[in-house]
Amino acid sequence: MTTTPETFPDDFLFGAATASYQIEGGAREGGRGPSIWDTFCATPGKVVGGDSGDVACDHFHRWEEDIDMMSELGLQAYRFSIAWPRVQPLGTGEFNAEGIAFYRAIIDRLKSKGITPMVTLYHWDLPQALDDQGGWLSRDTVDAFAVYARRMAEEFGADVDMWATLNEPWVAAFVGYGAGAHAPGHADDAEALQVAHHLNLAHARAYRAMKEVRGDLRIGLVNNCHTPRPWDPSSDADRAAADHIDALANTMFHDPFITGEYPAVLLPNTAHLTDWSFLHEGDLEEMQGQVDWFGVNYYASHVVRHNPNKGKESSKLATLADGHKAGANSPWPGDEEIEFMPPTGKITAMGWNVDPSALHAHLIKIHRETGKPIYVTENGSAWNDSIDEDGRVRDTDRVDYFHGHIGAVLKAIGEGADVRGYMAWSLMDNFEWAQGYAKRFGIVHVDYDSLERRWKDSAYWYQEVVRQRAVVPVEQADALAATPPRTF
Ligand code: NOJ
Repeated sequence: MTTTPETFPDDFLFGAATASYQIEGGAREGGRGPSIWDTFCATPGKVVGGDSGDVACDHFHRWEEDIDMMSELGLQAYRFSIAWPRVQPLGTGEFNAEGIAFYRAIIDRLKSKGITPMVTLYHWDLPQALDDQGGWLSRDTVDAFAVYARRMAEEFGADVDMWATLNEPWVAAFVGYGAGAHAPGHADDAEALQVAHHLNLAHARAYRAMKEVRGDLRIGLVNNCHTPRPWDPSSDADRAAADHIDALANTMFHDPFITGEYPAVLLPNTAHLTDWSFLHEGDLEEMQGQVDWFGVNYYASHVVRHNPNKGKESSKLATLADGHKAGANSPWPGDEEIEFMPPTGKITAMGWNVDPSALHAHLIKIHRETGKPIYVTENGSAWNDSIDEDGRVRDTDRVDYFHGHIGAVLKAIGEGADVRGYMAWSLMDNFEWAQGYAKRFGIVHVDYDSLERRWKDSAYWYQEVVRQRAVVPVEQADALAATPPRTF
């Protein structure tokens, strides 16, 4: 019998997360080169409302106030990403001193406020020049990434010890190259599998390069998790469907780094789509052991079943299950007979269900399968927020969501999972990729005309969670919030 502790361990890190393209703006300032997301956004029909990250939250100019806000919130850690094209505009060759200085200033200010920086090297904004030469389909991009990673370790390694190489390689590969709903917008099953493998290799090579610079860096890989449960657990076919999705979504991005193998079902299940000749001898050996921790980004759970007669609608649902907008193709190679069931229960503005039990189950699974320290590197929800007459954003659904999920983390810790931190997604509303600005995930509201920041009720509630290091009751949210709320 295990019991859930009352509070989080003393060294557990509470923070919030963002990503460069989603908040920075300043797309053509400071010597930044174009990325595949600039190109994708400029392509009609790709992003809802024709939105782009050109201005985003204007963090490029407001980073100082934003860090002050993190400090007021009491955050102990801040997870953000470096825009590769800001520090190395073409992805190879010259580095950009101005871009490096921008991140140096952010890191310095965070540290002066006692906030631990957690830096992600790749949150999907690949330099366009690399895409012009094949992007992640090319092994040259893998090697370019290791060069970039080494340089970042040289620049910042003395001040940052928590690093993530890639954010959600599943999305980069299967939504970007498989479904076509994200940049660079390819829709090809075989390409998606090749890119997924190259991303794994890129992680391994970056890991080694950075460790050569400083052996004490703690370098992890951040995966979005899917929790495919079989529709009928007593059906072999439904369980096989869930195993296939688990292999594509989860284990193909863990196993190589732990066991030096891809999950057993992966190659046979996709052999009709690709001959896997992109998997070279020695690649898996390069990957084995090359990870210090795993990041878990969790949003929603999934139920799948075997259905030999599934219609096109199901593939669309499969894409929507990730909220990344329906693409031209399914993001799940080999899913010809696998159906994603429509979500049930409470549904967020992204169309995702609310299911803290699956986060708990996933943390236990990752703990058992990898034995590595885990950080919840993203967790949060989008709702149709509105500003009340008194200026408040009473986002009770978001508070409720956080309450359930932070509770699930504490429960997993009580059962022995080595979870060391929780980063709320997101610090503030931002550019939600193919969904543009329509979906709001922030604990701080952003007015995209004036760029004013406004604390939502959830910001006050989360501030109290961090202060107490406990799962504060939802009912206290109203009293914790100030009227009018903090704005700047
Ligand atoms: C995970 C991604 O890392 C992040 O960029 C995105 O905004 C959230 N999911 C919500 O979709």
